[in-house]
Amino acid sequence: MSNKLNIGLLGLGTVGSGVPFILNSHKEKIQQVTGMEIQVTKALVRDESEKERQAKRFDIALTTDYNEIINDEEIHVVVELIGKIEPAKTYISQALEAGKHVVTANKDLLAQYGAELASLAQKNHVDLYFEAAVAGGIPILRTIANSLAADNIQKVLGIVNGTTNYMLTKMVAESKSYEEALKEAQELGFAESDPTNDVDGIDAAYKMVILSNFAFGMNVNLKDVETQGIREITTDDVEMAKKLGYELKLIGSSEKIGESIAVQVAPMLVPLTHPLHSVKNEMNAVFINSSGVGESMYYGPGAGAKPTATSVVSDLITIAKNIRLGTTGYRFNSYNYETKLANDNEVYGKYYFAFDVPDKKGQLLLLTKIFSSTDISFEQVIQQKTDGTTARMVVTTHAMTKAQMKAVTEKIQEVPEFHLLNTFKVLED
Ligand SMILES: NC(=O)c1ccc[n+]([C@@H]2O[C@H](COP(=O)([O-])OP(=O)(O)OC[C@H]3O[C@@H](n4cnc5c(N)ncnc54)[C@H](OP(=O)(O)O)[C@@H]3O)[C@@H](O)[C@H]2O)c1
Repeated sequence: MSNKLNIGLLGLGTVGSGVPFILNSHKEKIQQVTGMEIQVTKALVRDESEKERQAKRFDIALTTDYNEIINDEEIHVVVELIGKIEPAKTYISQALEAGKHVVTANKDLLAQYGAELASLAQKNHVDLYFEAAVAGGIPILRTIANSLAADNIQKVLGIVNGTTNYMLTKMVAESKSYEEALKEAQELGFAESDPTNDVDGIDAAYKMVILSNFAFGMNVNLKDVETQGIREITTDDVEMAKKLGYELKLIGSSEKIGESIAVQVAPMLVPLTHPLHSVKNEMNAVFINSSGVGESMYYGPGAGAKPTATSVVSDLITIAKNIRLGTTGYRFNSYNYETKLANDNEVYGKYYFAFDVPDKKGQLLLLTKIFSSTDISFEQVIQQKTDGTTARMVVTTHAMTKAQMKAVTEKIQEVPEFHLLNTFKVLED
């Protein structure tokens, strides 16, 4: 191979436009580090006229026909930045089969077909890298795969969706409602017009599937990630959490329990003393608990053209180095362990419950009886009048299993006068 690494870029959108920009801005350094000149030679777009100016600036040939990329023998790497499942999956598969290395930031695709695509890359002795797919600009996957390879990870906690973190920050700091926070996030371009994937926790679940694979070597199916979004969070929950010494955040959690793992995405109460509490607005962070290093946290922008494109280019640099060293064709993550999911009796946590109860004597006693019958004790209790007939009662509990949490929820729902509003997990300090 010559000292040129030619890229076929699929998509010149937010991140796609950033890739030639970063390659151009840091050209000399990249050449020094890799001994190669990395350049985008061709880009697949839907409308050539729309992208002409950009293409001219970076000397990129445009095409609307993928065959012109896949059949171009001068192209060594395909960078997929069009997103979603199809045609991205077909394009990536064809590129790998054609012996081209692939870089992608497509978490939707990797969370569902990552194992299949990684096997295809290995079979064809080519590289498949996707650092930008989790937490955009934070180099978390390479850190877990390389720097923490000697460590034994017990828990990964992530604020891995910038949109919801931005919204919750506004709901906490400025007492905005869910609807107001969503509107503001949409106006600022942090949330899409259809925010479903973000607010329902699906985007965070994609990232937790990938993080679980890197941290624990297990292939978790998306359907096995218990996922709860932020739509149901009320301003009352936000205020109650504050009173109890916590802040509500959407947390992705992947935890090792014996030989199994439990993966979850849900709004959780984060203690003010926890490092994740400091992660505000659209920022992302991944907090890792491991036996060697102990606690470590990786913080940075989870999205944006420059941070995300920088991660994409770091993958290109890795491929260039692999080519020079003759080490292409190995998996990004070679840690592989039998996938075992923990059952509800093994997963422990403290919980927050909010209820509306009749504003009359004996309600706390009745509630205490229900919780005691499931062997659960309270840590904190707050009771507040809402109107003449109803009182809002909020409790946080000591640690219980998920099975206990489900059992007590059923018992509460059997009492017609009790209206269970919300249940959230409480993170330990
Ligand atoms: N944005 C971020 O900060 C960020 C962060 C981490 C990961 N990612 C991931 O990076 C990928 C790209 O995201 P993005 O934000 O850059 O998206 P985007 O701004 O919507 O860009 C996607 C581009 O791909 C083009 N495209 C879509 N389908 C195509 C097709 N069949 N043929 C040719 N071009 C096609 C679109 O063209 P049109 O303009 O004609 O629609 C658009 O220009 C996604 O997988 C996303 O999840 C993004």
